[in-house]
Amino acid sequence: MADCSCHTSILLFPAALLLLLLYLSPLNQQLSTTFFFSSISSDHRMNTLNASQIPLPPSPAPAPSPAKDFIGSAIPSFSSSTCTSTATDTYVRKKSSLNRVEESLARARAAILQAARSRNNTRPKEDEFVSKGSIYRNPYAFYQSHNEMVKRFKVWVYREGEPPLVHNGPLNNIYSSEGQFIDEMESGHSPFAARHPDEAHAFFLPFSIANAVQYLYKPLTSYARDPLQHVVEDYIGVVSNKYPYWNRSHGADHFMVSCHDWAPDVSTAHPELFKHFIRVICNANITEGFRPGIDAALPELNTPFGTLGRPSFGQAPSKRTLLAFFAGGAHGYIRKVLLEHWKDKDKDVQVHEYLPKGMNYAKLMGQAKFCLCPSGYEVASPRIVEAIQAGCIPTIISDGYWLPFSDVLDWSQFSVQIPVERIPDIKKILQGVSQNRYLQMQKKVRQVRRHFVLNRPAQRFDVIHMILHSVWLRRLNLRLPS
Ligand SMILES: *[C@@H]1O[C@H](CO)[C@@H](O)[C@H](O)[C@H]1NC(C)=O
Ligand SMILES: *[C@@H]1O[C@H](CO)[C@@H](O)[C@H](O)[C@H]1NC(C)=O
Ligand SMILES: *[C@@H]1O[C@H](CO)[C@@H](O)[C@H](O)[C@H]1NC(C)=O
Ligand SMILES: *[C@@H]1O[C@H](CO)[C@@H](O)[C@H](O)[C@H]1NC(C)=O
Repeated sequence: MADCSCHTSILLFPAALLLLLLYLSPLNQQLSTTFFFSSISSDHRMNTLNASQIPLPPSPAPAPSPAKDFIGSAIPSFSSSTCTSTATDTYVRKKSSLNRVEESLARARAAILQAARSRNNTRPKEDEFVSKGSIYRNPYAFYQSHNEMVKRFKVWVYREGEPPLVHNGPLNNIYSSEGQFIDEMESGHSPFAARHPDEAHAFFLPFSIANAVQYLYKPLTSYARDPLQHVVEDYIGVVSNKYPYWNRSHGADHFMVSCHDWAPDVSTAHPELFKHFIRVICNANITEGFRPGIDAALPELNTPFGTLGRPSFGQAPSKRTLLAFFAGGAHGYIRKVLLEHWKDKDKDVQVHEYLPKGMNYAKLMGQAKFCLCPSGYEVASPRIVEAIQAGCIPTIISDGYWLPFSDVLDWSQFSVQIPVERIPDIKKILQGVSQNRYLQMQKKVRQVRRHFVLNRPAQRFDVIHMILHSVWLRRLNLRLPS
C-alpha cells in the first residue's frame, strides 16, 4: 500500500471555518452560522495566466558574484534517489499524527472564535503588545489568532535541493523578503520550524525564484519562463514522490514565498498542479491570476546591505512641509503617466525621476505627508513599506493590487488609494484630506509600522510573523481528511 495516501478522497473538507471571512468583515452575530460553507474544491477564482499577455519585466539585476558552488546554468533537477517506502504502519502513524495536527487547529479555531465573540484582548502579560483599533479588521480575532499561531504553528521546510536555487535567497535589496524568510525558517532557531514533517501544519518549499532567475537566465537569451517552471515543477515532483504530504492535500497546505516579478508565472504552465498551492508573492496582481483566498501578498522590503531597514528621518506631522513625494524610474505604464503629469512641475507634489544630487530620499519621505507609491513593472513597490517606516502616508497608485496582510489589516485606515485615471488630480485629492483626518491616518501609520519591521530573529507581530500568519490563516481554513 505504498501509495494508499493518494486514495483518500480528494476533497479538502470545506474549511471548518472560513476565517478569512471573519477577518474580512468585523465579526457579527450571524457569522457563526455562516462558517461552514466555503469549499476549496469549488473554488472558481482560479484564473489562469495567459503568458502571452504578460508584459516583459525588467531584466534581472546584474548578479553580485555568486559565492555558492553553483556550476553553470543547466537546469538542475533534484535528486530523489532516496525515495522512502511508505509501509502500512508508517501510514497508520501518519494518520494519527494528522489527527493531532487537525485537533490542534480545531482548538485554535475555537479559541479565536471565542476571543472574537467575547471581544477579549486582555493581555496575558502587562508589557505585551495587543492589537487594538481600527487598523485591524478584527483586532480580537487577530490577537488571538497570532497567539495561537505562536503557540502551535509548525512548518516543515523541505530539505531537498541545493543552494543557490533552494535554501538560499537574496537577503538585500528589493527581493529581500524572499531570502530573509527562507533564511529565517532555515536558521535553525525558528520556533516555527517543525522537527518532523508529521508534526507540521504547513509545508514550505524553500526555492528562490529570484535566485533561479538570476542563475538560470544568465546570459539572458530568452524571457521564456520554461526553465523557471521546470525548477519548481521538478521540486514539487520530488517532494510529492518522496513524501505523502503533497498528495494528501493536493498541495493546499504547501507554500512558496517569493518577491520576484516572475513568481506568479511558475504556475502558468500547469495550473492544475498549483490549484490549491499557496503562493506568497509580492506580485499580487488580481488581473494576473492572484487568488486572494488561496495566495497571500508578500510586502516588498528594500533591505540595504548591512542593515535590516532604513534609518527613519520621519518628522512630526506638524513639520512635514511637502504634500507629496516620489522619486523613481519610469518603470511601467503607471509611472509614465505620473511622471508625465508631475515630474518637476510642482513644489508641493514633488515628483522626481531621479533624485537630484544632494537630496536624500529617506529624509524627503520623512518630510512629506503623503508618499506616492505607484506600481512599477509589477504591482508591488518597496515604497509602501518605506513610507510606513518614514511615518508618511502610503498613497497607492495601482491597478488590481491585493495589498499585503489585507486579511487582517484595513488599509483604508492608513493609506490613500488613487486610481490611475485620477493621477492628474493627485494634488486636489490630497489637499482635500482634512488636517484632522491626516493626523488620524498618520497616527495609524505609526501604529501599523510594527507589522512591517524586519527582525532577525523574528519577533511577535513583525513582518515575518505576519507572513507566517497569512499562511496560518489559510491553513486554518482547511481541514484535511484523516
Ligand atoms: C503522489 O501522486 C503522484 C501522482 O499521482 C504519484 O506519482 C506519487 O507516487 C504519489 N506520491 C506518493 C508518496 O505516493
Ligand atoms: C492569449 O493571449 C493571446 C494574445 O492576447 C491570444 O491570441 C490567445 O488566444 C490567448 N490564449 C488563451 C489561452 O487565452
Ligand atoms: C480573556 O483573555 C485572558 C488572557 O488571554 C484570559 O485569561 C481570559 O480567560 C479571557 N476571558 C474570556 C472571557 O475569554
Ligand atoms: C496587472 O495585470 C494586468 C493583466 O495582465 C496588467 O495589464 C497590468 O499591467 C498589471 N499591473 C501592473 C502594475 O503591472
